Amino acid sequence: MNELPVMANILIDCDPGHDDAMAILLAESLSNLVSITTVAGNSSLANTTRNALSVTELIGRDIPVHAGASQALNGEARDARHVHGAGGFGGVSLAEPGRAVASEDAVTHILAQARAVEALWLVAIGPLTNIALAVRKEPDLASHVAGLAIMGGSTGSGNATATAEFNIWADPQAAKEVFAAGFDPIVCGLNLTQQFLSDDDLISELRAAQRTIPTFVADLYTYMHARMEDLIGVRQAALHDPCAVLAVTHPDLFEFVSMHVDVETEGDLTRGMTVFDQRRTRRGKATPNCKVATHIDQGAARELLLKTL
Ligand code: BDR
Ligand code: CA
Repeated sequence: MNELPVMANILIDCDPGHDDAMAILLAESLSNLVSITTVAGNSSLANTTRNALSVTELIGRDIPVHAGASQALNGEARDARHVHGAGGFGGVSLAEPGRAVASEDAVTHILAQARAVEALWLVAIGPLTNIALAVRKEPDLASHVAGLAIMGGSTGSGNATATAEFNIWADPQAAKEVFAAGFDPIVCGLNLTQQFLSDDDLISELRAAQRTIPTFVADLYTYMHARMEDLIGVRQAALHDPCAVLAVTHPDLFEFVSMHVDVETEGDLTRGMTVFDQRRTRRGKATPNCKVATHIDQGAARELLLKTL
């Protein structure tokens, strides 16, 4: 008899956010999603936490949600309301969730789960503040988890600024500390996520299902396509955060290259830039500290996404 494939155990650290919501929905179906921690990013911590709770209610399972950092390590709070709307879920109006958070101490929860759950994957799809705080408390966290997958950074241009991707730009110091913490993380940056796009055809296919969850995602992305049309002139949006989940659950869809990365925390023009040493990688002289996802089979990924949602 064929054995069923073992699903990865995943803890998602997120700032929902449209693509965070999609990532949670995919992780719920494609992995054993053990818990969710929230961080300020796309919107305030209160909003990202409420949105995470609402998604778990839509799913209909009591996935524990633990609230985390409300500001970056340096005390700043930045958001992406011009993309995701003031509440983080522009385009949908969900009722206030009936569920409450399991705790307001995401960092302690991450550290406890790393020890309690066998082969736990951390999937970080917001600013890296919670993960950095966890590493500050327990510098050997990397040795207690199966791995870390990050949506963040870029080997090319940024989206928050010319050089910086939003999640890293929102807390560059946290990102710097996490990349130096020995996780050898999978990094899904803009160079990868901009290969995996939603468009109006995808929305039509989701609506055709006439079910609650695909309709919710279709509403989110109808809004997002309108925002993208305003901002960059195309009715398409990169499915950033789902890439980090799929890189764990379906690594065969991806190509990876080991590289060394560090983060610029200061520069007027480059604050939040991920500096990947592609030069030394090409010469075979890099001392890699991460696995950069460089290619996704977007046809297969889209099919999987539609089937799953
Ligand atoms: C990342 O920034 C956020 O706006 C998205 O949720 C994603 O995690 C893309 O740069
Ligand atoms: Ca996010």
